[in-house]
Amino acid sequence: MEKKVSDFHKDQKSNIDQNAVSLKDVFKDYFSIGTALNHYSLTHDSIETKLAKKHFNLIVAENCTKMDSIYKSETELDFSKANDFLTFGKCNNFQMRWHTLVWHSQTPDWLFKNNDGTAVSKEVLEDRLKHYIRSVMNYCKGFQVSSFDVVNEVISDKTFGLRTKDDHSLWYEILGPDYIEKAFIWAHEADPKAELVINDYNLEIIPQKRQAMYELVKGMLEREIPVHAVGLQMHISIKNPPVEQIEETINLFGSLGVKVLVTEMDVSAYESEKEARKEYTAELLEEQAQRYGELFECFKRCAKKGYLEKVILWGVTDNTSWKNFFPVPDRTDIPLLFNADGSAKPAFTRIIK
Ligand code: XIL
Repeated sequence: MEKKVSDFHKDQKSNIDQNAVSLKDVFKDYFSIGTALNHYSLTHDSIETKLAKKHFNLIVAENCTKMDSIYKSETELDFSKANDFLTFGKCNNFQMRWHTLVWHSQTPDWLFKNNDGTAVSKEVLEDRLKHYIRSVMNYCKGFQVSSFDVVNEVISDKTFGLRTKDDHSLWYEILGPDYIEKAFIWAHEADPKAELVINDYNLEIIPQKRQAMYELVKGMLEREIPVHAVGLQMHISIKNPPVEQIEETINLFGSLGVKVLVTEMDVSAYESEKEARKEYTAELLEEQAQRYGELFECFKRCAKKGYLEKVILWGVTDNTSWKNFFPVPDRTDIPLLFNADGSAKPAFTRIIK
């Protein structure tokens, strides 16, 4: 589903400052610092991979480890693109995260259907999911994938219950609520050492959603389900939510006894879909730098408490960010730490201080 990814990279001259201090050195006493890479970047000598090697010690694939890229049919799992990611990570000594085993999006339709187009039974879908989780986790064994998003975005923004068919989840529709716990159990059986993560967005923004996640994880821990961490995607804006609210959220999940990960951070220049395209002025970049600075100070405090161990940006340079086409196609955005040519933005300069 990558949109014209090669276009993002066209004609980019590199302007990377190889003498700059590296993020992984700056944060080494606090947390691992990671980035998402798209498949094009990691299979080319791109600005993004050069920066990744210099600044980050953890990577995650932006799309090529999602189910639609791998699970082609009941009998065919195609790991070719995922293998490019895993091999790049292994050769360059990155920690790796797997995103994601179960999601309602970027998941093939055939999974939920019989050959005649009718909906599959619970048993069939469970078998398909179990087979997928085991196969992926066994495939990863030769690589250093230490952390897996087992389920992604399972809580509804509308009802704050589990996401159902009304929110596009056929997993819930066919398997009922216990597919979440089963996925964690199967993942743990396949790799008892892996960090297993429940990942979601807006937990730091919507109190009811945060509470629903809290109850869900608390219940899972009480039933001894192997859930080890809560992932906060952290797709936020320059203005909101307040840093205090983010810190409270990390502390809340940390107090449950699970780790917290910032899994997909970006800081959009926009607060809503309604805002028109802005000028990306020096003032705006400065405002963003200030916000990034405050957020990383918060992350350091949470790391000191033992709650936060990984902070991952959802991309390297602004021009490869998904926010250029989401939620508004072609509005563009400037949510990350580096410019298209690899030069550092004020936000980078601020967080290394
Ligand atoms: C996004 C990718 O960045 C895009 O390239 C793709 O078209 C859609 O998915 N939450 C997630 C990520 O968990 O998988 C999403 O990634 C961004 C939102």
